[in-house]
Amino acid sequence: MIRHRVAVLISGRGSNMTSLIEVSREPDYPATIALVVSNRPAAAGLERAHIAGIEALAIDHEIHSTRESFEQAVDTALRERAIDIVCLAGFMRRLTPWFVERWAGRMLNIHPSLLPLFRGIHTHERALAAGVLVHGCTVHYVVPELDAGPILAQAAVPVIPGDTPETLAARVLAQEHVIYPRAVQMVCSGEARLDGSRVVFTARWDGGAALRSPDEASLLLED
Ligand code: GRF
Repeated sequence: MIRHRVAVLISGRGSNMTSLIEVSREPDYPATIALVVSNRPAAAGLERAHIAGIEALAIDHEIHSTRESFEQAVDTALRERAIDIVCLAGFMRRLTPWFVERWAGRMLNIHPSLLPLFRGIHTHERALAAGVLVHGCTVHYVVPELDAGPILAQAAVPVIPGDTPETLAARVLAQEHVIYPRAVQMVCSGEARLDGSRVVFTARWDGGAALRSPDEASLLLED
């Protein structure tokens, strides 16, 4: 089994990063987390990665005068460590087409909505404002257009009466921690591959397991 070398790019607490690190410790997981990079030196995820024994690098975007020079520094760090796949996980920095093209087909992102709904930020607030009854998360390949790349995995959760952005975010986040490790596994094992602007699955996709946990469904019924 080939273990692909994955870098995780973060800006904050890094709970998705942690879920990837944990699953990558399993002997049959086809990826190893070789590097964590944060554009914010104070990101809590850097310390978490360090404690987990993963190389954790701060590349502060504020000390770079241009977006391009920041991205050059990130790109150099990735190439020096022979990274195969880049996973954006709460990385709050827009990437230029130059960087995206350089990592085309090898860079994934997790987004806290059922794309193509609610691209961008404040997804939980917007889902509640729109009155949707189902919300969720998506793992997709990164393309230059924001949150618009080919979809690898999605999980849906119910919106429960009385939800706040925080309660909804927590329900979605639990599913993010399920589908991101699974999506990375599919990409690294070849179970999923890009075919133009679509993802082709060469194995049965079991993402349905991430749909609405029985507990949450019964909560809905009680209401
Ligand atoms: C997640 O909800 C992710 O989908 C979004 O930002 C959040 C990052 O959380 N892009 P964490 O840093 O992985 O805990």
